[in-house]
Amino acid sequence: MVKFDPSPLTHYPTQRLRRLRKGETLRRLVRETQLSIENFIYPLLVRFGNGVREEIPSMPGQYRLSLDQLPKEVEEVSALGIPALLLFGIPEEKDGVGSGAYAERGIIQEAVRRIKDSAPDLIVITDLCMCGYTDHGHCGIVRDGQVLNDETLELLGKIAVSQAAAGADIVAPSGMMDGQVKAVRRQLDSEGFYETAILSYASKYASAFYGPFREAAASTPQFGDRRGYQMDPANGREALREMELDIAEGADLVMVKPALAYLDVLRQARERFNHPIAAYNVSGEYAMVKAAAQKGWIDEKAIVLEILTAIKRAGADLIISYFAKDVARWLREDNDK
Ligand code: PBG
Repeated sequence: MVKFDPSPLTHYPTQRLRRLRKGETLRRLVRETQLSIENFIYPLLVRFGNGVREEIPSMPGQYRLSLDQLPKEVEEVSALGIPALLLFGIPEEKDGVGSGAYAERGIIQEAVRRIKDSAPDLIVITDLCMCGYTDHGHCGIVRDGQVLNDETLELLGKIAVSQAAAGADIVAPSGMMDGQVKAVRRQLDSEGFYETAILSYASKYASAFYGPFREAAASTPQFGDRRGYQMDPANGREALREMELDIAEGADLVMVKPALAYLDVLRQARERFNHPIAAYNVSGEYAMVKAAAQKGWIDEKAIVLEILTAIKRAGADLIISYFAKDVARWLREDNDK
């Protein structure tokens, strides 16, 4: 028998934390963080064409959908209890100024109208950026190899207005141009779209975790990279400055992106700001889990729920995730047990 020697410092055995871990009912009772489908946003990639449902090779289970597929898709999303979609469009043609992003019959504008027609209560959030629409693949106007900040702002305002006019509830500027939230707010207000909210991709890092998405959306920069406007992954305090500025410029919600490698930023943002905070569980985070699960190396459901719970525990109110549909099913399944 091992002799028991209670250390005066640990208070053992009067403090036994295992007492509250005995059985699932008790563990549920004291659980600090609960995932709820109410807080999930499902990203969707939309393209022109008919009858297209193309699986994205590096993102198994995610598809590029043509417009006609949307009613069926949003019916499924709504039935699962997912309250919001984040939309990305793949245009037919690209040019130097990304004019497809603000075209009256542009892909996003058409998609928003279709979705609002079939599911008016579903919240539609539109990604507000130029990178998917420019031939050079950068998030702004390019001159002499430079992405110009202030010249880009005007276009972002124009894109925002066209998205709001199509029916978007929330626009989400993601280009990391300085002053973009203010420019977008001003332009929306001047056209009477006071009620359109802004979800700012406030601290968006220059991350390798976007790889699968760029392949899917064909939005890879054709020269250079995005480090001249997206944030350096090494910086945490700067992320708080970005959020502070965007809030001052009128953002209604702020985002940290990616999520998993930036939980410290989420936690600090939660402590510092009272705005709703969104975290983007991005394509690379999805692809890694899927690849390992397909090899049978991890338990997909357990890993995904653990990752998403951690993102929420760190401070996220809203979570944008390609796993949203799975989460809806898993949470139902667990509740029915
Ligand atoms: C466009 C944009 C990107 C993502 C969302 N909006 C790519 C990028 O900045 O290169 C990434 C989403 C993901 O990886 O899931 N600015």
